Amino acid sequence: MAQAAVQGKGLEGVVAASSAISSIMGSTLTYRGIDIDELAERSTFEEVVYLLWYGELPTRQQLDRLCGDLAGSRSLAPEVIDAMRRFPPEANTMVAVRTVVSLLAFYDPLSEEMSAEANEKEARLLLARFPTIVAAIHRIRRGENPIAPDPSLNEAENFLYMLKGKRPTQTVARIMDVALVLHADHELNASTFAARIAASTLSDMDSAVVAALCTLKGPLHGGANQAVMETLERIVSPDDARGYVRDALERKEKIMGFGHRVYREGDPRARWLKQMSQQLSQETGNPRWFETSRLIEEQVLKQRGLLPNVDFYSASVHMYLDIPKDLFTPIFAMSRMAGYTAHILEQYADNRLIRPLADYVGPDRRGYVPIDER
Ligand SMILES: CC(C)(COP(=O)(O)OP(=O)(O)OC[C@H]1O[C@@H](n2cnc3c(N)ncnc32)[C@H](O)[C@@H]1OP(=O)(O)O)[C@@H](O)C(=O)NCCC(=O)NCCS
Repeated sequence: MAQAAVQGKGLEGVVAASSAISSIMGSTLTYRGIDIDELAERSTFEEVVYLLWYGELPTRQQLDRLCGDLAGSRSLAPEVIDAMRRFPPEANTMVAVRTVVSLLAFYDPLSEEMSAEANEKEARLLLARFPTIVAAIHRIRRGENPIAPDPSLNEAENFLYMLKGKRPTQTVARIMDVALVLHADHELNASTFAARIAASTLSDMDSAVVAALCTLKGPLHGGANQAVMETLERIVSPDDARGYVRDALERKEKIMGFGHRVYREGDPRARWLKQMSQQLSQETGNPRWFETSRLIEEQVLKQRGLLPNVDFYSASVHMYLDIPKDLFTPIFAMSRMAGYTAHILEQYADNRLIRPLADYVGPDRRGYVPIDER
């Protein structure tokens, strides 16, 4: 018998936690009360990390200290790099990264310690090491050696340096930095909720982050940006775009990068990513990815009335930055690590086990039938 009616399929409209980290109101997203537009324009990823973790923008001294801590914590244990060399090169990149995060715990003496201080340190280590993991996986599977992090570079610059072996230009580094700012947190999205559920059992921070990564991987969540790129590659003309959208809608397929559970009047992050995609299309002299995206956007709006979400233009932005498709979702995770760890710390600070109810819709109570009588 049902214990309670389901409030909304997929928990739609259900308030499942209190949080002071980020908030969505209409088409506005704020981190600790500050508008994402202002942060994208004026701040840096490191400042945003501090804001998400500690609730306030850092002073110059606090920021320098955080940057120094992060830059000094990026290296991976040699055993972890050795283990990565044994991964199958064709493995799904999100499977590889979440496996490495699990492996980190083997060599991390703080992993099982649950003091507030140890967890704060763990958050810094995860944030600092995650880009090193993503870049190393990419290089190792191409038969190249990982590149050691450069402590003189910020998070965005250092990631691109470890990935490609050369320092990015200032424009490219700033675009990467803004993309990191835009993806850093997003209220109670599915992967952050998964992290909070794991943390609410008082499991350790690495485990909670692995739960988040497993959840981010799906195409309805963080996996959408890679799927968008796969679509863009198949389309070469306005007719293709029109036909693709029409056929997908007829088959009742979801068009990746469109729609959102919470935003109904547009995703504020998508506006920024669209501008960045346009800027890069002009700077690289390659209009294809931006123009194809625009055509699809136009058709989806016309044929289904849906607006792009964060993943739609982030696909072409990453493509212009010459980042392989299979790294799109791991890069999303690199930024969201700020939000995951902030939410896990917030959950630990005022914890109660997250354990909802299910509306049971199975058979009425009945007896066991022995196997020979079935
Ligand atoms: C994000 C998403 C999962 C939100 O899902 P949701 O809140 O459960 O919304 P629903 O799936 O119930 O969609 C409501 C209606 O809009 C349609 N819709 C929503 N997103 C759609 C999309 N991307 N393409 C086509 N139709 C879509 C649904 O088919 C449904 O139509 P119906 O009422 O006729 O059945 C969904 O929009 C989606 O799958 N988008 C594509 C994946 C994506 O880009 N994910 C990244 C999110 S940031």
